[in-house]
Amino acid sequence: MVDIHCHILPVLDDGAKTSEEAVEMARIAVSDGITDIIATPHTYDGFYLQRTEIVLKSVTNLQQALDLEEIPLRIHPGSEVHVHSELLEHLYSGQILSLGNGMKHVLLEFPSAYFPLVSNRVVSHLLARGVTPVIAHPERIEVFRLNPSLLREWTEQGAIGQVTAGSLLGLFGRTARGCAIDFVKQRLVHVIASDGHHVRSRRPELSEAYKALTTMIPEEEVEMFRHNAQAILHGEALQILSPLTKSKQKRWFFF
Ligand SMILES: [Fe+2]
Repeated sequence: MVDIHCHILPVLDDGAKTSEEAVEMARIAVSDGITDIIATPHTYDGFYLQRTEIVLKSVTNLQQALDLEEIPLRIHPGSEVHVHSELLEHLYSGQILSLGNGMKHVLLEFPSAYFPLVSNRVVSHLLARGVTPVIAHPERIEVFRLNPSLLREWTEQGAIGQVTAGSLLGLFGRTARGCAIDFVKQRLVHVIASDGHHVRSRRPELSEAYKALTTMIPEEEVEMFRHNAQAILHGEALQILSPLTKSKQKRWFFF
């Protein structure tokens, strides 16, 4: 399995706190059946501002540590980019990393409680340049829970949604779980990732979430989720079904 969203690089953000924890996260991932992780430290979110060369160096360092320990896991560069007005300039000037550094897919993080005015412009400009916006965990973002039509419009234009494994399993509460399942069934999300941060909570694991997925949608659609993670890693074409239309869209509130 490929995990396209994980905060495994040590020290850079609120993920792994030490190199030792990063190596331990790698062991957890491997024992879950994960072969590749795209490391996605937060950037431009108001707290963290990654420098590309430091992320690349960190990937190299962690890979060397894993190779030394004979842990069979490949680490690839990436980032989780907070939506901001200069995103395209930063992407094309190399100041932020696309997923796998292939300039095909960019992981976008939205603030939970408000909608940045530049959002539509950023998404449409990326699509116009042939870059797929990957919307990080919309089931955990209040803006998308209250207005799923936003997500629907973007997925109809070519963006995709990334559901977090723990959301499907109820680790982020009932609202996130219900919304995640709803988005899966409506084809508003298209790839699973762990969004792993640590070894105890928010672990880098996917297998239980894939199992849960098989109870929600047909096996061939589950295969599309698997394919899309591989495709993002290799910069290849995604497999996307059109969102299902719903006569009345449920809005997910906190409770
Ligand atoms: Fe994340």
